[in-house]
Amino acid sequence: MFKDMLESSQTLFKNEDSLDPEWVPKLLPHRERQQFSVANCIKPLTQGRNGINILIYGTPGIGKTAAIKWVLRDLEENTDEIYSIYINCWQKNTSYKILCEICTQLNYSFTQNKNTDELFDVVKNIVNKKSAVFVFDEIDKLEEINFLYNLINEVYKKTIILITNYKEWYLGVEDRLKSRLLPENIEFKAYNKPETKDILTKRIDYAFFPEVWDEDAINFVVDNSYEAKDIRVGLKLLRSSGLVAESFSSKKVFLEHAKKAVENLELTKDKDDLDQDERIALSVIKESPEEKIGDLFKKYQEKGGSGTYKSFQRKIEHLEKGKFIKTKKFIGGKEGTTTIVQYTKSLTEY
Ligand SMILES: Nc1ncnc2c1ncn2[C@@H]1O[C@H](COP(=O)(O)OP(=O)(O)OP(=O)(O)O)[C@@H](O)[C@H]1O
Ligand SMILES: [Mg+2]
Repeated sequence: MFKDMLESSQTLFKNEDSLDPEWVPKLLPHRERQQFSVANCIKPLTQGRNGINILIYGTPGIGKTAAIKWVLRDLEENTDEIYSIYINCWQKNTSYKILCEICTQLNYSFTQNKNTDELFDVVKNIVNKKSAVFVFDEIDKLEEINFLYNLINEVYKKTIILITNYKEWYLGVEDRLKSRLLPENIEFKAYNKPETKDILTKRIDYAFFPEVWDEDAINFVVDNSYEAKDIRVGLKLLRSSGLVAESFSSKKVFLEHAKKAVENLELTKDKDDLDQDERIALSVIKESPEEKIGDLFKKYQEKGGSGTYKSFQRKIEHLEKGKFIKTKKFIGGKEGTTTIVQYTKSLTEY
């Protein structure tokens, strides 16, 4: 009776870390074409010429960041003549923060007491001795993009790569910047079902011991990930299905465990320590799928939401961190910078 049971010291996971969203696999199947295009835009740098800029766009969780990180890693392994800088603009959302981070990545540590212009001079002086690839991921999260003008005008040999979920973000960019940037557009489309299955089964091989996964359970996770059009959903389910199976001391992950994992995902999403006001905010957003933050605030107040506009903005940030919603910023439009808030469907809503 107990022979098929997992002992408490045993685990189904060979390498659980490989299910982390930041983990970059050695191979990135089904993105070869896009990676090749990116590499082509960087190639002139290896010949001492100026590179071609790139705008990458596509929905969440489909390998944009992973593909670029992979190309950068390959570049770093093959040449010392090109600096590679990767910045996530959600974490670093102003010119000052970005330039500090670039300095750090260039191993320059005397950034204290320097203002944005001085930091830019440091960057320029280092980078202009060689050439550089700059990646600005989640570019639509930036508060302002002044540093881009400086980079474009004063760094001679570079490829600037901008990554966003929203192709339309670029429409809101000033003409002055567009005419200097002239990026090549590379679209990432969501994976089809066989691709999703291939990616997730390869990840199972990294993360779990052999033959742990039952075929029906795999297909269930693949279906959920494919319907959400997001590999992250699949990775999350792989991990939590494994944990559910372990909690039942099962030596295999079966369909029932994967189903339970989907349920858990929904429950934690609902609970996720949202307070009363955040729930009101979320319900307002759900009713108006794509709305400016200012208009949402009015509706939120009408529904009895409390607090100032500033605290409402913080609630929106919290909801976004919890992946309940997405926001995008339009910089420098007619009304200044505007934030548009979008509702993110949960798994059971697809
Ligand atoms: N082709 C692939 N092969 C293996 N893993 C992949 C592939 N595509 C995506 N992934 C994995 O899926 C997860 C999400 O991918 P990634 O972070 O690149 O998404 P993204 O397109 O940048 O999304 P977002 O717009 O939300 O930033 C990562 O853990 C990544 O390793
Ligand atoms: Mg990304």
